[in-house]
Amino acid sequence: MSTEAKLELDGKVYSLPTVEGSEHEKAIDISNLRNLTGYITLDDGYANTGSCKSAITFIDGERGILRYRGIPIEELAEKSTFIETAFLIIYGHLPTRAELKRFSDLLTENAILHEDLKYHFEGFPPHAHPMAILSAMINAASCFDPTLMQRFDNGRFDLHAARLISQVRTIAAFSYRKSRGLPIIYPKSAYKYTANFLHMMFSMPYEDYEIKPEVVRALDLIFLLHADHEQNCSTATVRMVASSQANLFASAAAGVCALWGPLHGGANQAVVEMLEEIHRSGDDGSRFITAVKDKSSGKRLMGFGHRVYKNYDPRAKIIKQACDNLLNVLQISDPLLDVAKHLEETALKDPYFIERKLYPNVDFYSGIIMRAIGIPIEMFPVIFAIGRMPGWIANYKEIAEDPKSRIYRPRQIYIGPTLQHYVPLHQRKNTGASAPKKNAA
Ligand code: ACO
Repeated sequence: MSTEAKLELDGKVYSLPTVEGSEHEKAIDISNLRNLTGYITLDDGYANTGSCKSAITFIDGERGILRYRGIPIEELAEKSTFIETAFLIIYGHLPTRAELKRFSDLLTENAILHEDLKYHFEGFPPHAHPMAILSAMINAASCFDPTLMQRFDNGRFDLHAARLISQVRTIAAFSYRKSRGLPIIYPKSAYKYTANFLHMMFSMPYEDYEIKPEVVRALDLIFLLHADHEQNCSTATVRMVASSQANLFASAAAGVCALWGPLHGGANQAVVEMLEEIHRSGDDGSRFITAVKDKSSGKRLMGFGHRVYKNYDPRAKIIKQACDNLLNVLQISDPLLDVAKHLEETALKDPYFIERKLYPNVDFYSGIIMRAIGIPIEMFPVIFAIGRMPGWIANYKEIAEDPKSRIYRPRQIYIGPTLQHYVPLHQRKNTGASAPKKNAA
């Protein structure tokens, strides 16, 4: 294989080195392109841009493969737990028994929030979206420990990482309680990570929530399947913020904001809203599919399609199975599951979806599991954020430990006006150009 790419521009030929990853992914290294040629590359939405080299997660979207640190997602889903997988993602290897115990102890020791932080929850209006609370409170939590405000410190990284993983779960549960006007429930050290989350979400001061192992396993699996996904929108955001040497908590809070949108982590909420709307309208999904294909409808089949997967998302396969299992065990019959299955069946046979290689993604069935557990819809993206925390932390660590890491600073092609001059206020005319309307609320 040639190790150089040739580029012909303005009558000159330039040689550009190529790079090959451990799974034979290939890239043209253009880091010197502008110096050499005066040109930059333009790639809307970064679909062809490798922004970094990373050793954390491998995806082959054409073949539907996902591996964390080389281990297939199917093996981890069957044999591991979220916390063991979090260790794997952050530290690069499966933990020994002693390492896992130490990690688990650190999480337990760091679960509690500073008591004063409770007052911050009071400032949010009753129906504040928990993603807004989560991002704000992750930043607020960092203010209670001056060492968290400093840039990466290898000596404290283990503590900071454990604190973030543990406290994000406490913050998430507290924001749910706050949004429902319910008293806050503190974590219990006897419970493991996911059981503790369910306890903080659903126990009452006068009655503990009954922790069912099947429910713990289903939610733990959702966390595990979301734990990392290479350079998606939120992880790339975390790396972007981390590249400025902002601290871990600030970088993760930015990740939460990026995750919130309906095209990313907000999709699990959007899927269930879509399924509810279809069900309410008496449609079995067929009319909705027809509307989706008409671009003027502005509708998308939420939970379908992926920038990287042009095949069935391997996480969606696992979640679909887990969804069937949990609903069976809990003896729940959810009409939204029937609508979802019919939508999937119809879409997978339809040329529109076949030609565009649109398959169910991780969000298509996860919301139905969460509904069965009793997690309210506005908390769905928060569950995604809790799960994604190890991936963000590992990516932060990769940047912080790389001595060659530079600030992320893309360029642009400017398409605005060429040189103009300042016009004094009294000489300006109304050109009809965009401006706030008179009655803008
Ligand atoms: N429903 C209908 N049509 C779709 C869908 C969909 N869900 N997704 C893509 N398409 C169509 C587009 O309209 C476009 O059609 P065209 O070629 O005729 O213009 C074509 O498929 C390519 O779509 P893009 O938007 O260019 O694909 P992109 O890679 O930019 O977007 C995305 C990927 C955002 C995930 C998209 O598929 C989507 O909006 N899906 C629904 C939202 C969703 O489920 N998001 C969760 C993603 S997974 C995650 O973040 C965890």
